[in-house]
Order: sequence, then structure tokens, then C-alpha cells
Amino acid sequence: MEEYLNKSIKEIINQFSEVGNILNEYNIGCAPCSVGSCLLKDIVKIHNLPSEEEQELMLRIAKVIYPDREVKIPEVKRKGEAKPKEISYSPPMKKLVNEHVLIKRLVAMIPKVIDNLDVESEPGRQVAINSIDFIRSYADKYHHAKEEGILFKYFSEDLHIIKTMREDHEKARAHVRAMLEALDKKDKEAISEHLNAYQELLTEHIKKEDEILYPWMDRDFSITRVGELFAKFNERDEEFGDVPRMCEEFINKLEEKFKLTEVVK
Ligand SMILES: [Fe+2]
Ligand SMILES: [Fe+2]
Repeated sequence: MEEYLNKSIKEIINQFSEVGNILNEYNIGCAPCSVGSCLLKDIVKIHNLPSEEEQELMLRIAKVIYPDREVKIPEVKRKGEAKPKEISYSPPMKKLVNEHVLIKRLVAMIPKVIDNLDVESEPGRQVAINSIDFIRSYADKYHHAKEEGILFKYFSEDLHIIKTMREDHEKARAHVRAMLEALDKKDKEAISEHLNAYQELLTEHIKKEDEILYPWMDRDFSITRVGELFAKFNERDEEFGDVPRMCEEFINKLEEKFKLTEVVK
């Protein structure tokens, strides 16, 4: 089994497709993942299942790989306890989770933005321009840049989970470029297409960060590191001055415009 713990999950799934189904049952979405080169042992560590579930998962995988053998499952060493039902974040990670909430509020309004899309009139175009501008200034230049420029630097660039997150950021940037081009050409269909794709991408991306990446990173951080990270985030916030507050105001106004009462958490 040791040999398979050090193999990439895509390789294992290609050889034993049932392993993808088993991981899916534990809400570990490796089968549809575009990168899929995480090692089996890293997946187990990152997802931090309760130890009983982890043993059960590993036994099921081992039975698929070695159907005729009795396999002993090596214990995977990890820091901290398995995840509690309610995730508790360190203060700097909580900051990022709160930023996600504002991004999710915009993402939740994308269907309304599309339904009301008017590229002909100036006020109509302005709604699209402002929404795209929020994505560029808040979600990307403020939030994603904080992750890439500060948070991810504490981990190896070769880690596949980090590569996947960076790839998601690049995909989001490509959608923004395409939206702006389409807006120039007054191409409603292309704007809607890229807004929809952005909504789908960011919904999954934020979920992965909130539920898997940040808790995993938090388990790895010492108290000194947490303090350092918090100070660096605050420094970055100061550089941005009033921008985050103005972005929040924009979201409040857009929700008012669309008369949205449901609270996004
Ligand atoms: Fe991210
Ligand atoms: Fe994020």
C-alpha cells in the first residue's frame, strides 16, 4: 500500500476507476479534478477525515487495488485533530473567509446581472462595468493577490493544491478579459457566458478554500506564523485604503437595486 500512497491520484484512478467513486462518496472530488496529480497520501492528509473514516476509506481503496490480499493500512501522520463540524479559523484566515462572503454576494447576483443585462444604454452598461470592476479590484487585485503574494508563499509552489488554486485564479482572470472584450463589442451572449462560467468557477473555488485549503493551512501554522500573517494582511489592507469599503458599498447598492433580501454567508 505504501507504494500507492506515493502515487498520483489520477494514475491510480486511471488504473482503478472505482477508487474515484469511493473518494466521491467521501466528498473528495479527485475524479473530476483538472490537475489530479496530488499523491494519495497528501489527499488523505489535506482532507483530514476523522480517523475512523480515514481508515475505512483507505481499507476500501486497498481492497480495490489488492482484492486478494489482506492489507495493513499505515497510519498517516497529521497535525491537529480531524475537522470539527464547524470550522474554526485563525484570525488571518477568518479575514480571508470574510472576504469570500463579499465575493459570494456578487456571485449570487450574477443571474440577476445577466437577466437585466443592457449593453445599449449608458446606465445599463454601467451595471456591467461596475460588476466586472468589483471582480477585478476586490476579488482579484485585493483578495486573490493577497493569497498569491502572501499566503501561498508559505507553502511549496510544487504542491498540487496550490497549483490548482493558482490555475483557478488565472481562469477567472481570463473570464474577466473576455467579459471586457465582449462588453466593447456589445456582445450580450458572450458577456453572459463568461459571467456564468465565472460564477461556477468561483463558487467551487471558494468552497475548496473555505472547507479544505484554509483549514489544512491553519493546521500547519504556528502561533508566530499566524501573527505574522495577520500583520502582513493588515499591511496590505492599509495599501488598499478605502477600496474594500467602497466595494462593499457597491454590493449593498446592487443588492438594493435587485431587491435581494436573502443573506449570503
Ligand atoms: Fe483563491
Ligand atoms: Fe480566496
